Amino acid sequence: MTYSSPRRDAALARLKAKTSRSAAMRPHAEQLLALEAVPTFSLPTPIYIDRALGATMTDLDGNDYIDLAMGFGSNILGHRPPEVEAALIAQVGKCWHTVIPSTPQYDLAELLVDAVPCAEKVVFTNSGTEATMYGMRLARAYTKKEKVAVFGGGYHGTHDYALIQEDPKSQRDAPSAKTIGLGIPASVRDETMIVLPYRDPAAFDIIRKNRDALAMVIVQPVQNTTPFIDNHDFLRGLRDVCDECGVLLMFDEVVTGFRLAYGGAQVYYGVTPDLASFGKIIGGGAAVGALCGRDALMGLFAQPGSGGVFSGGTFNGNPISMTAGAATLRLLKERKDEIYPGIERRSARLASTIAEHCASNGMGVTLMHAASIQCIHFVDRPIRTFRDLHPSNRAAEEAFYIFLLDRGVLLPGFHVYFLSAAHDDAMIGRLETAFVEALDECRADGLL
Ligand SMILES: Cc1ncc(COP(=O)(O)O)c(C=O)c1O
Repeated sequence: MTYSSPRRDAALARLKAKTSRSAAMRPHAEQLLALEAVPTFSLPTPIYIDRALGATMTDLDGNDYIDLAMGFGSNILGHRPPEVEAALIAQVGKCWHTVIPSTPQYDLAELLVDAVPCAEKVVFTNSGTEATMYGMRLARAYTKKEKVAVFGGGYHGTHDYALIQEDPKSQRDAPSAKTIGLGIPASVRDETMIVLPYRDPAAFDIIRKNRDALAMVIVQPVQNTTPFIDNHDFLRGLRDVCDECGVLLMFDEVVTGFRLAYGGAQVYYGVTPDLASFGKIIGGGAAVGALCGRDALMGLFAQPGSGGVFSGGTFNGNPISMTAGAATLRLLKERKDEIYPGIERRSARLASTIAEHCASNGMGVTLMHAASIQCIHFVDRPIRTFRDLHPSNRAAEEAFYIFLLDRGVLLPGFHVYFLSAAHDDAMIGRLETAFVEALDECRADGLL
């Protein structure tokens, strides 16, 4: 559905006028790609990026934007931090893909084992998707049970098991499962997965009831689109019930890893899972994933053909991703006492400015944040879980992204966005102004 309102239409016309090179690129992209890897379709007008530095991206037409996509949260230090760039350049001068092991893999593994409580051993992948897939396979092999439980509202990537979601039409405290999109066998949904209600103790009884079939529970310590941070009791309760039932617990730390704290959510909450998946930040902006866990579990991975759990991939542990990741984690480790509190303070400042503006003007908008994760929802009701995010005020939401873009702020249009260490106080000031003005424009257009 396309919306129309006077200010929104004028802002969109201004944007189109200054992005003609990007617009010219779009038919070419459409001709070649069944789906753009990172879709421009969520933007109100095509924008193709030419270069990026710090918290700023520059498009083909030379327009600068404050980047709030930040590589979907991968670039916690901003784009091209000098130390990471220098490490990459040095590595490129040596080799960038060998298959036969090269040393950067051990540097990154050592940093992970050192920082992540559950990590005694690591297996690298190219994405978070592969890391959660291997975690599920490993849990099934170790426990000799077949089912894995996920929580409603969570996201674990794009493999078939990960695309099982809570059916929002089902009962809140006893949800049923549905597949997301076409092509996923119903048997995956019905025979291998269970969906649990997030942040709800009713989940613990479902785990108890299914203990004989359940290999593992996988949970995002903080979910992407409802980033509640007060999950201490819930995660502790989950750990206890999994121990009681002989069910493994895996944290999907693809987003929370090295974001909530150096080491991840398991450090922040003081709850240690059996397995954890990582991605995003630990690749320093290069393609990466990792599965970490206790030795007893990880020891089941074995060479293909030798009877263990299969893992492999042409580019797993490649020197470029490993180097970018190790350089990023070294920097985070050295400066963690300044970087993490700094991001949290600036993120809280932006969130509270917007929340106060919305509350004092009666705007039906909710802003949520946890560390550098932020989410803006155009809903006028209390949010308890992802189910409360729909329906939303789509007309205001779409106009809001246009008004922000018109002010040089690129928010990916998926509700969730990320700050980084490169979003300094001055930039937060610019973001506050842009957000407030964009919301006021929505109101002036009669949308809020
Ligand atoms: C929590 C979580 N797990 C897994 C994934 C999948 O990671 P990737 O996109 O690297 O496959 C994502 C991606 O955003 C994620 O947010």
